[in-house]
Amino acid sequence: MKGSSKTQSLNEFVENGAVIAVLGSGAREHALACALAESKYCKQLVLMPGNDGAKLLSPLKVSLAPANLGDFEALASQLKEKKVEFVVVGPDDLLAQGVVDFLEKKDFVVFGPKKAAAKLEWSKAFAKEMMQTCGVPTAESVELTAADLDTFESKLETLLPYPVVLKYDGLALGKGVVIAQNTDEARSFLKEVFEEKKFERVGFESDTKAAAPVVLAEEFLTGFEVSLFAICDGKDYALLQPACDYKKLKTGNRGPNTGGMGAYSPVPWLPDARCREIADKIFKPILDEMRARKVTFRGLLYAGLMVRGQDFWVLEFNVRFGDPETQALLPRLSSDLALVLYGAALGELEKALDLAPLRWKSEACVNIVAASRGYPEKPETGFEVHFDGFRPSEQQRLFFAGVRNLDGKIQTSGGRVFGISQLGPTIETALDAALVAMSQVGFEGMYFRSDIGRIGDDA
Ligand code: AMP
Ligand code: GLY
Repeated sequence: MKGSSKTQSLNEFVENGAVIAVLGSGAREHALACALAESKYCKQLVLMPGNDGAKLLSPLKVSLAPANLGDFEALASQLKEKKVEFVVVGPDDLLAQGVVDFLEKKDFVVFGPKKAAAKLEWSKAFAKEMMQTCGVPTAESVELTAADLDTFESKLETLLPYPVVLKYDGLALGKGVVIAQNTDEARSFLKEVFEEKKFERVGFESDTKAAAPVVLAEEFLTGFEVSLFAICDGKDYALLQPACDYKKLKTGNRGPNTGGMGAYSPVPWLPDARCREIADKIFKPILDEMRARKVTFRGLLYAGLMVRGQDFWVLEFNVRFGDPETQALLPRLSSDLALVLYGAALGELEKALDLAPLRWKSEACVNIVAASRGYPEKPETGFEVHFDGFRPSEQQRLFFAGVRNLDGKIQTSGGRVFGISQLGPTIETALDAALVAMSQVGFEGMYFRSDIGRIGDDA
């Protein structure tokens, strides 16, 4: 939105500050709340709904408000009640449901893309078509529908031999991608999508053309993965430092895929100049093409990349901060995040960056996630979290996710329970200190990876 008469201009924001809300309940939102609360322009930060751990361990400016994020009318009333003027959206499903469209109509300034722009995440087929149109390098692919269930192998010809990557064309809580090693594995995933209708179709409700589910089959690429985040105002973008996350459950990159077991930043094998060069080949053409289609992209555009030597490919776009990369990135940021996000939301990123250029600490950050026994399939919950000498500090932060307060005690309530973000002169020293910190917090059945940031392990 280009600030309406009922919202503050960038100059007014600088002069008066604002009450800011962060929507979401995970460790990413806890980290965002802490970073935004550090802004001198943030009068108060309301985390909606957040979690009981975030309530315990956040700057004084942060308060929590219970919220049913599925009820936009009630959410807007609550935000008005709390005098919130600026809203930062965490999770993808809210964006796919059109929370930004709704709240902007109610005169909130919102950082996040509208539903039509969020399609870059909620439809992989749309993202693929955009990449092809814009000449952004991406894996070769074909689209499969229910009609291909018996004959899909012939359609896969150009992608074979196995493995082949199959991606459900929609939001799937990280469960929509499989790397099929043979025909049987491919068929069983296609059956889950087309026959068992395992996944929801968030975002597609009003899109009659896309009423039937689609699976994108892709050639299998090898290399190193990295996440690039760009704060976008529709026209320009500001690149954040690169970060890498670890999706596999177990140390040594074994076990099933998860929502993310840790992350680190910066990325020693991706120097700044190379990073900028890659980013320019992705974000600018995509923003320009979106604008040409009258769908302005304002918010965070996240490109998940595979890099091999001088080549790179975009594996996916997300349209929100990554989890857990954000927890490894924001502790390294030393400039004002709130001002830049507000500027981007108004379409005035350049002006905001003039006032608050992005600055980074030279230190590295390692984020290790503590997960419940049984995660990701069937996490066991209900165990008390003990703090045995752990002291949060500027260098060492703890961001909570799946916890609740029961009779004054913090108990586990989800698969990923918390993450510790540790700064240090190098990734190696940060990892060592993070592992010490992990030994000072615990709960029954806690599992974490001890190799986050060990270069070479994340390929
Ligand atoms: P996506 O949600 O598209 O990022 O896929 C999830 C994960 O699957 C990625 O982080 C990669 O580890 C893997 N992946 C996705 N696409 C490919 C591909 N074309 N080749 C190899 N691995 C892939
Ligand atoms: N780190 C992966 C994601 O946020 O989707």
